Amino acid sequence: AKRVTTHVLQEMKNRGEKISMLTGYDFSMARIIDTAGIDVILVGDSASNVMAGHETTLPITLDQMIYHASSVVRAVERALVVVDMPFGAYQGNSKEALSSAIKIMKESGGHAVKMEGGQEIIESIERILTAGIPVMGHLGLTPQSIYKFGTYVVRAKEEEEAARLIEDAKALEAAGCFSIVLEKIPAHLAAKVAQEVSIPIIGIGAGNGVDGQVLVVHDMLGINNEFNPRFLRKYHNLYEEMLGSFHRYIEDVKSGDFPNENEQY
Ligand code: KIV
Ligand code: NA
Repeated sequence: AKRVTTHVLQEMKNRGEKISMLTGYDFSMARIIDTAGIDVILVGDSASNVMAGHETTLPITLDQMIYHASSVVRAVERALVVVDMPFGAYQGNSKEALSSAIKIMKESGGHAVKMEGGQEIIESIERILTAGIPVMGHLGLTPQSIYKFGTYVVRAKEEEEAARLIEDAKALEAAGCFSIVLEKIPAHLAAKVAQEVSIPIIGIGAGNGVDGQVLVVHDMLGINNEFNPRFLRKYHNLYEEMLGSFHRYIEDVKSGDFPNENEQY
C-alpha cells in the first residue's frame, strides 16, 4: 500500500476527503489499525493514562514515548505515524525542543511530531520545522495544561478564548505545521478554523465541520467502561468482552476443563 504522507493529507483536505486517525501505543494493536486502512496513527501521550495508569499525561517521559512509538512504527506499513512530544520535552526552549524532536525521529522512526500550544511555542515549532521534521499542532483542551485549566470541560466557549484559538491556528499554519488537532471545543468554532486555515484540521470532540477525526483507541473500543464523554462513539464493549473471556478462562482452569486432550502434547 502507498504510504500516507503529510502531502497526502493535504490533498485529502483539498478534495474534501475526511482523514481518519486513531491513537496507537503498541505493535499488536497498531498492526490491526494499520491493516484496517487508517490514515494516521497518533502515538499519543494519552499512553500515560491508558497504558501506564497515570491520572494525567504529564508524567510520561521522552524515552517512554519513544518505546511506544518504535513499537507502532514496526507494525505500520501504510499509516502516517505522528508522535506526541511529552510534557517537559519542548516548553523550556527551542533548542531543547529541537533535540527532543530529533531524538524521537532518530530513535522511534516516527514520521512527525505533535505539540500542544499556539503562539507561545512558535519559536520551538519553527526550529523543528527547519530541521525537516513535520509538526502537527494541538489547540483547545490541551491535556498537558490541565493544571492551568483546572477542569476537562469544553474550551473556547467565550469570545476571547475563541478569538485567541483562531489566531493560534493561523500562527501554526503560518509557521508551517502540516495539520492541527482541535480538542473539545464548540463545533461551530472548529468548523470556522477548518475554513479559515488551509491545512487539515483533525477534531476530537470538535464536531463534524472539520477535515478529520481522532479518537483514543481504548476509548472507541470500550475497553475503559468509566470514560463516557459526549463526544465518544463506542464501537465495541471490549470491557465486557474481555471480562467475560477472563472469567471463562479462570473457570476452565479451576475446573480442570482446560487444557483438554487436544490442547496438550
Ligand atoms: O494523546 C492523545 O491521545 C491525543 C489525542 C486525544 C489527540 O493527543
Ligand atoms: Na496527546
